[in-house]
Amino acid sequence: MTLAGNRPTMERLPNHNRTSQTIMTVINSIADRAEEIRAWRHELHQHPEICFEEVWTSDFIAAKLESFGIEIHRGMGKTGVVGVLRGSGDSARAIGLRADIDALPMDELNEFEHASKIPGRMHACGHDGHTAMLLGAAQYLAETRNFDGTVYFIFQPAEEGGGGGLAMIEDGLFSEFDMQTVWGMHNWPSMDKGHAGIHDGVCMANADEFAMTISGRGGHAAQPHSCIDPIPCGAAIVQALQTIVARRVSPVDSAVVSVTIFQAGSAHNVIPDDVKLAGTARSFRTETRQLLETAIREVCESVAAAHQCQIDFEWSPGYPATVNHAVEAERAAGVMATVLGEDNIDRDVEPSLGAEDFAYMLEEKPGAYIWLGSGPAPAEGMLHCARFDFNDEVLPIGASYWAKLVESELPR
Ligand code: NI
Repeated sequence: MTLAGNRPTMERLPNHNRTSQTIMTVINSIADRAEEIRAWRHELHQHPEICFEEVWTSDFIAAKLESFGIEIHRGMGKTGVVGVLRGSGDSARAIGLRADIDALPMDELNEFEHASKIPGRMHACGHDGHTAMLLGAAQYLAETRNFDGTVYFIFQPAEEGGGGGLAMIEDGLFSEFDMQTVWGMHNWPSMDKGHAGIHDGVCMANADEFAMTISGRGGHAAQPHSCIDPIPCGAAIVQALQTIVARRVSPVDSAVVSVTIFQAGSAHNVIPDDVKLAGTARSFRTETRQLLETAIREVCESVAAAHQCQIDFEWSPGYPATVNHAVEAERAAGVMATVLGEDNIDRDVEPSLGAEDFAYMLEEKPGAYIWLGSGPAPAEGMLHCARFDFNDEVLPIGASYWAKLVESELPR
């Protein structure tokens, strides 16, 4: 049915969040199927699943892809799904488009009809929208095939801490499917709808974790001199850790050291035996990542020794920094400019010290990760908040970006 014409469609998109002078050129037939994409998104939102448990979700995705006539491969990264679509010619070129599909382990506070039906599970990062946008593009591309080459639609589980991106790579994503580039997208509620941001290098951080048990010797709170109190030691460690970013990291570099867990004690008159501390260390550069690991370990061990406490320190590497490849980032920006207008593409947007496991894919293949403006959103409706909801108005924008990216990267 339909095809590739583009027309300005401001009137097709609900515009109560529209920033002034934003002309969006979504693909006609994608605008026409916006309601259907929205219905998928709502269905996904009602069925949130986390971290390699995305069984219903991957069934849903596979059924949709099959109904579009797209070849599917399942089980990569446990619950991952890859759709394979060949274009109209015989070109060997191939690209991968990745959407994350998982939700978060939290209760949703929204009460609208499409709110989560599963207690303790919520699509609070918009991966329901990411999934729906990639399905919308897949449906369009399967109908039109206005490209020459192969598209791999990568539906990835377990982005929120499980490393599903790495799991898919380890299960053969790039060895079984020979693609030259990979592309990712995330909704960005702190950027207004009608805008997008992209970086020509690092966009998200190395995100590592540390944890420790500080052991002293507990006893009666009235006799501290006969105990080794781990609580002042823990407090001193928290304070001393704050000097690492302030005094050890270059002031023109960026880093975060946050202690987020401090657990100790059970009674007001008992000095406990031990204290548990844990937190996160974020950085953009590999050198800074190494510096943080060394400095945090040194500070914790030295301060513990000064307090006569024993310490059991553990460092757990997390996701590496997400680093766009400059050439692909510029091509992504160019494609998004055809949807949102050149003036609405921010190529100088500040990176985030959040993290993203698309990083693993960008370590293997050239590509770029783009932030799709989806605001304005209220403070209680930002990513990972219990009142977040993906902004449906950007569904046709994201789907059009994917479709145009394919037609641009794999021209006939
Ligand atoms: Ni996310």
